[in-house]
Amino acid sequence: MKELSRRTAGFTDSVIRRMTRVSNQYGAINLSQGFPDFEPPREITDRLKEVAAEGPHQYALTWGAQNFREALAAKQEHFSGMKINPDTEIVVTCGSTEAMMAAMMSVCNPGDKVVVFSPFYENYGADTILSGAEPIYVPLKPPAFNFDADELENAMKQEGVKALILCNPSNPCGKVFTRQELSVIADLAKKYDIYVITDEVYEHILYKPNEHVYMASLPGMRERTIMCNSLSKTYSITGWRLGYVIASPEIVDRVKKVHDFLTVGAAAPLMEAAVTGLRFGDEYYQGLQEHYTHMKNLFVGGLKNLGLKFTEPQGAYYVLMDISEFGYESDLVFCEDLAEKVGVGAVPGSSFFRENVNHLIRFHFAKQDETLLNALDRLADIRKKMR
Ligand SMILES: Cc1ncc(COP(=O)(O)O)c(C=O)c1O
Repeated sequence: MKELSRRTAGFTDSVIRRMTRVSNQYGAINLSQGFPDFEPPREITDRLKEVAAEGPHQYALTWGAQNFREALAAKQEHFSGMKINPDTEIVVTCGSTEAMMAAMMSVCNPGDKVVVFSPFYENYGADTILSGAEPIYVPLKPPAFNFDADELENAMKQEGVKALILCNPSNPCGKVFTRQELSVIADLAKKYDIYVITDEVYEHILYKPNEHVYMASLPGMRERTIMCNSLSKTYSITGWRLGYVIASPEIVDRVKKVHDFLTVGAAAPLMEAAVTGLRFGDEYYQGLQEHYTHMKNLFVGGLKNLGLKFTEPQGAYYVLMDISEFGYESDLVFCEDLAEKVGVGAVPGSSFFRENVNHLIRFHFAKQDETLLNALDRLADIRKKMR
């Protein structure tokens, strides 16, 4: 048999999904894979029932149903302050996962370089490989996860750099980039003529006083920013696979074509039902923030009471905990032991870092109170069981 593609030969099984299997094996409370264990808003699921009876059940317009794009443009205009044309500046995709892939394929030629902050969401590695690009990593340094502007400039000025990927708010480190930090990135992007591909799936999951600033809203950035975003986290519907790209008409025109060949379109009945969510008023997003703030305070408050060391997230729903005190050389072995001996599933931090970082593990806390309290109960024994 001839060899399978060289491009994908280096792909490994996702460490996150591996930790889910390990959690299941030991009956551990799974705080590794990031999805909520509570229900989406009732209005959206009620609407889905109606749509099941009424339709649509056939292909929607390839770049997204008209009413979905109109509701989305209105919602994003409201939060970002930018004018968004639903016909020429939006492509609806199968999750932000497809949005990112379509954006990368639209921008990159084989051999182009893409700057990625490390730690990073694991898909970006695969996105660069599939689009033929080569990643250049710039560290966000723990525990505060700040970047060094000179280091960033050294990366961005390299020959062949086409784009920078910005995850804000960030998974896994919970960083919310300030306006000032975004301005530094924006100035370099303009100086070296680089696209910024943003992943803003956690735009509404923020902890006060942090605020989300849209990269595209900074002066001169609208035309060079490709926003990848999703309904997965905002409406707790990760399984619906609804995402989107927002960019200038020139870029969107290309993304539409890539998207058409990748997937044809997002699911028509789910788009129709999700329009209900896109039309929610401000109180929904305030409620979402309050709910996440409650879960965050419950979980990190518990870690604090146990005297564990971690970086408090500014946004998204993950916390990176420092495991140096346990003396493990491998964070992967630590996570396997944690699932087996303590009964809590986490992700080894090394799977997110390019640098040699082995002293962090990631928990996610988009869980019901009972789940988090049980996990904290189990973690109370961590020092007894993990030495
Ligand atoms: C940073 C980030 N981007 C994208 C995704 C995937 O989003 P979607 O469900 O829209 O494909 C996730 C999911 O965990 C994520 O954490």
